[in-house]
Amino acid sequence: MTRTILRGRVLSFHRAPETIDDVGSHLYLEDGAVSIENGLVIAVGDFGEADTTGAQVIDHRPHLILPGFIDLHLHYVQSQMMAAYAGSLLEWLNTYTFVEEQKFAQQGHADAVAVDFYDALIRHGTTTAVAYCSSHPRSVDAFFAEAQRRNMLMVGGKVMMNRNAPEGLCDTAQSSYDDTKALIARWHGRGRALYAISPRFAITSTPEQMAMAQALVAEHPDCYVQTHLSENDTEITFSMELYPRSSDYTGIYEDYGLLSRKTLLGHCIHLNHRETSVLAETGAVAVFCPTSNLFLGSGLFDRERLMNNGVRVGIATDIGGGTSVSMLRTLDEGYKVLQLRKQRLNPLASFHMATRGNAEALGLEDTIGSIAPGRAADLIVLDAGATPTMRMRLATVQTLVEELFLLQTLGDDRAIAEVYVAGARAKSTLVGL
Ligand code: GUN
Ligand code: ZN
Repeated sequence: MTRTILRGRVLSFHRAPETIDDVGSHLYLEDGAVSIENGLVIAVGDFGEADTTGAQVIDHRPHLILPGFIDLHLHYVQSQMMAAYAGSLLEWLNTYTFVEEQKFAQQGHADAVAVDFYDALIRHGTTTAVAYCSSHPRSVDAFFAEAQRRNMLMVGGKVMMNRNAPEGLCDTAQSSYDDTKALIARWHGRGRALYAISPRFAITSTPEQMAMAQALVAEHPDCYVQTHLSENDTEITFSMELYPRSSDYTGIYEDYGLLSRKTLLGHCIHLNHRETSVLAETGAVAVFCPTSNLFLGSGLFDRERLMNNGVRVGIATDIGGGTSVSMLRTLDEGYKVLQLRKQRLNPLASFHMATRGNAEALGLEDTIGSIAPGRAADLIVLDAGATPTMRMRLATVQTLVEELFLLQTLGDDRAIAEVYVAGARAKSTLVGL
């Protein structure tokens, strides 16, 4: 196997930056070398000190080499329904989403969507994502099979949902258990695939199905759990009507043993103090989905309050409630949401969150999310002068922090110059880019 060396400016985080000038939080190399062998990073350092004998050198100067972006929450089965015109969450679900997801019952549909979905992820520099599939097991097979073809580390699972949705989308408590069990056996730990047990949310699961999810979690503690929590006022009221004995919305998932460090909770916008404490105690992750929260008018995520109370936080697109596949666009909208909360998100903190921070949320920081010996060579190359507008601004940029802020504020897929998945070029090799 040949050794490849990527040359360029290199940025990788060791930990969350505490301030905007926390230089100890990251490694930054002006002229760096990332050595790759067998899909892994084997060395990182100054190019001048790298051993280049027998290696293929790919020169990405003056661009920035970062770990690939990680998206903690999206629905790949909603790839074709972004930008659906709806006033709020439940209207959006009933009018568009549940109609769209029924298409995944058809033979071949999931396979075709999966190809386009992964092409889109790669174009936008996302090398790992945590995804909801539809309730149909074949949508999960298509999701993981296509990831395997591309050698991508992906997390996902069949949505469990057995009420308050069209018949064509509903499973039963028993079939959701049986199908999830079979899918875990087929996919979890196969290559880079990891399974997420996925009860959609309290509204679409009966207590019997929640109990099945609880059994699955107990039987497969190494799998992730993903669901939605406290996104929208009407959703919260309806959930409490359906589970009147639970103390609050978080209490529903708590009562069924679904909360742990392996749990990813989309949205978490309207949590009371008790709920915040429960998330902190269990280690469940609150996933910030800014473009979706603005698009559906769901509310403003309170990052500071959650973090100050010890809650683990990540960030995601929430396609198709979200309005962009791009983590750069997501960071930009996240910044604006927090501006409205009078909370600043500095560019180092946001790029940390989209890379190492989200890897830590998954407990995968030893595998992905940073550039260091032994990590997967899932990397992106960022061009802060990718468009005329960006170039105009870049002319006055003087620091790395300014460059990162320019990338997140004005950047999109055009700023992703190249993507490497397990050491192999993945963007420039896309067909019909
Ligand atoms: N809550 C339950 N299902 C969904 C979904 O598909 N998208 C969003 N944004 N929220 C949900
Ligand atoms: Zn979602």
